[in-house]
Formats: sequence, C-alpha cells, structure tokens
Amino acid sequence: MSQLIINIQQLAGIREENNLLRGAALAELPSLHDAYILIEDGFIADYGHMYELSEKVPQLPKEVYDAFEQTILPAWCDSHTHIVFARSREEEFIDKIKGISYAEIAARGGGILNSARRLQEATDEELFNSAWKRLDELARLGTGAIEIKSGYGLTAGAELKMLRVIKKLKERSPLSIRSTFLGAHTFPQEYKEDHDGYIRLIIEQMLPVIAAEKLADYIDVFCENGFFSVSEMETIVNAGKALGLKPKLHVNQLNSIGGIQSGIRLGAVSMDHLETMTEEDVKDIAASKTIGTLLPSAAFFLRMPFQPARQLIDAGAAIALASDYNPGSSPSGNMNLVVAMSCIQMKMLPEEAINAATINGAFAMELEKETGSITIGKKANLIFTKQIPSIAYLPYAFGSNLIDKVMINGEFLH
Ligand code: NIG
Ligand code: FE
Repeated sequence: MSQLIINIQQLAGIREENNLLRGAALAELPSLHDAYILIEDGFIADYGHMYELSEKVPQLPKEVYDAFEQTILPAWCDSHTHIVFARSREEEFIDKIKGISYAEIAARGGGILNSARRLQEATDEELFNSAWKRLDELARLGTGAIEIKSGYGLTAGAELKMLRVIKKLKERSPLSIRSTFLGAHTFPQEYKEDHDGYIRLIIEQMLPVIAAEKLADYIDVFCENGFFSVSEMETIVNAGKALGLKPKLHVNQLNSIGGIQSGIRLGAVSMDHLETMTEEDVKDIAASKTIGTLLPSAAFFLRMPFQPARQLIDAGAAIALASDYNPGSSPSGNMNLVVAMSCIQMKMLPEEAINAATINGAFAMELEKETGSITIGKKANLIFTKQIPSIAYLPYAFGSNLIDKVMINGEFLH
C-alpha cells in the first residue's frame, strides 16, 4: 500500500546514510522545508520538496494525507528502559522528599529489592499487561523503538519470567524492541555476603537458559560501589559475551570506579547514566567506539547533577539520550521531556538532542538499519507535531504536548 504525505512544513532528520554522530556532527539535523514523504508498505520509499512532487511521484496514490504545515521527525529511539515492573514506588519518592537518599533507601532493602519482591509475586500476565500499557503510552508520546531490561527478578525463575514477558512484548508490539539481561542489577539479600554465589547463579542457572531460548540481545551490569565491582562486572559480561550477548552497561551513576575504562575494554555497545564523570572518563569514552547514553530524567528525579553532555560532545563522544523509565529513578518514559531537559539543563542544542534521541539511540540498540532517521528503506516511524514555528520550539515549550500524531510502520496510532 502507498501513502503520500504532503505539505510538510519541515521534514527533519533526513539521511542518505547511517553514521553514528559524534562531536560537531551531532549539531547537524538535515531537513527539508515544504516537503512530501512517500511510504510503501510501512517503509519510507521517497521524500523530497513539494515542487518536485509532480515529477517524482507522477501518479498520486489513493491515500494522500495533507500535513497542513506540520513538522515531521523520526520517532524516538529510547535505548534504555526498565518498563517491566510490578508496582510503582511513590512511597520511596516521599521518603526522598523527606531527605532519605537513594543509596540509603537501597541499603535498607528498598529500591531495586523492593521491586524484586513485587515482581517475584506477579504473574506473567500481570507483568505483560502493565508493560503493554506503558508501551502504548510511550508510543503515543512518540517512541518507536525501545530497549527493555530485566533486573527486577533477581532469582533464576523471576529473571527468566521477566525476559519471557519482554519476548512476548517483542512478538506482539509494532514497536522495535531490544531485550537486555540485567540479572546483575543488585545482590539479593541472601547473597549480600556471598557475591560469588550470586554470580555463579547468573552464569550457571540464568545465562544458559537465556541463550538457549534467545531471551536477550544484550547483557547489562549495574557497576557501582555497593552493587557490582568492576571485576565482578567483567566476570559476568565475559560469560554473557561467550554466549553472544553484547554488553550495554550501567556505569558512573553514583561513583567513578573504573567502569568506563573496563566497559571500553569489554567492547560495550553503550555505557549508560554517566552522571559522575572525571575528566579522564570523558576523554576515554570520547576516544572509544562506545556510545555514552545520558539519562537526564534519572538525574532530575534523584536531584543529582546532570550528565556533562557539553564536555562529552566537545571531546568528540558519540552520545545518545534515553529515558531510563523505571519505578525507582525515572518513573517517566517521556522522551519529549528527556529532549527538553537535555537542552535546558545540559545545554545541548535542540538538533543535538533530537539526533541523540533518534539516530544515535538507534545505534545504541543496533537498530540503525531500520529506524532513527528519515531514510529510504527504513520503517515509517514518524512523529507528526502540531504546528510549531521551528524545531527548537519542541524543547523550548517543554511542558506542552506538541505531538499531533504518531505513525509506526506506516500506520497511525489511534
Ligand atoms: O537505571 N541504577 C540502577 N537501576 C535503575 C534504577 C532502579 C530502581 O531504582 O529501581 C536505573 O536508574
Ligand atoms: Fe537504568
């Protein structure tokens, strides 16, 4: 089926080839003004200026949509989330308002362990249904591709249950979904004094089943003081790599303990969070192939300093933006807000933020061949904005809902 969209005020994020953007290239958002886009069977088939239309598309398809001066950009690629969870944690939110820290809450069995207890009790169906609702909300907010992690199970049974829920989401959802095994999210209470025991459980009981059932694309570890050390991370990641899982890692949220340097050696696709970075860390990741994924809504929600986006970009790093949607540190998956926060609090230019949340996000999930830009042959995953004066208006008017419609695989969401 052919669909033609005409009279687009600005068609943003058009690219002929896929390049991971770093440094100065992040500020370039190639666009056409007064444009059309042609979609065939859910994929982008052509685009161009309105004045070229009669020549390039001589026979108009039956389905013509007049965008009436709307702006169109690629749907968001949210490369870091934890959207499978059993229950929200607003009571900890209140505790934090009263002055208790995230680390203190975690130390007394709240935080991740709190979510793990709830998840262990939840049925597959409950988990699937609540995650499905979240996915639906996120799609309406413009997200077309998403990575989802396990890590609230922390027993072999519950981790596998989570991953099977993610697999079912993959099978049923029109969104592009990547799955990450995060069994090493924290040590369960009974292994607090027996780290090797839990690591053995991950390597001997969880990983073989995950590989056999193809339940994950990536492996992740929360590498921080009080969680997994650098050497523990290396042991777990190497076991995952041996089974074909590439690393995408949680590092440098709370401490700088060498996670960056180790992640680079391990060949991580991305290293995520990066609130706490030394000059050395910035230099090292910038010189590496690993994408630095910034999660500003987690910094915002935990009242932490924002990630040093400017230093990273100026040093030549390839950075992506993601929501970290989870019940503890970022109970929002709104990528529009993530983009706005990056501009307001981290001084990213609107073009840099949009690129980091689309094409570079796609690279951070290795989905750049199918999504992340307006490119012939990629999926027609598109955000149609309301009428806006310019692309910078999106992060500028940060509290407004500026999305009129979202299209996934050529179909408008209703
Ligand atoms: O990415 N930092 C570790 N994991 C999550 C938060 C987990 C939680 O508090 O439930 C994060 O921020
Ligand atoms: Fe996270």
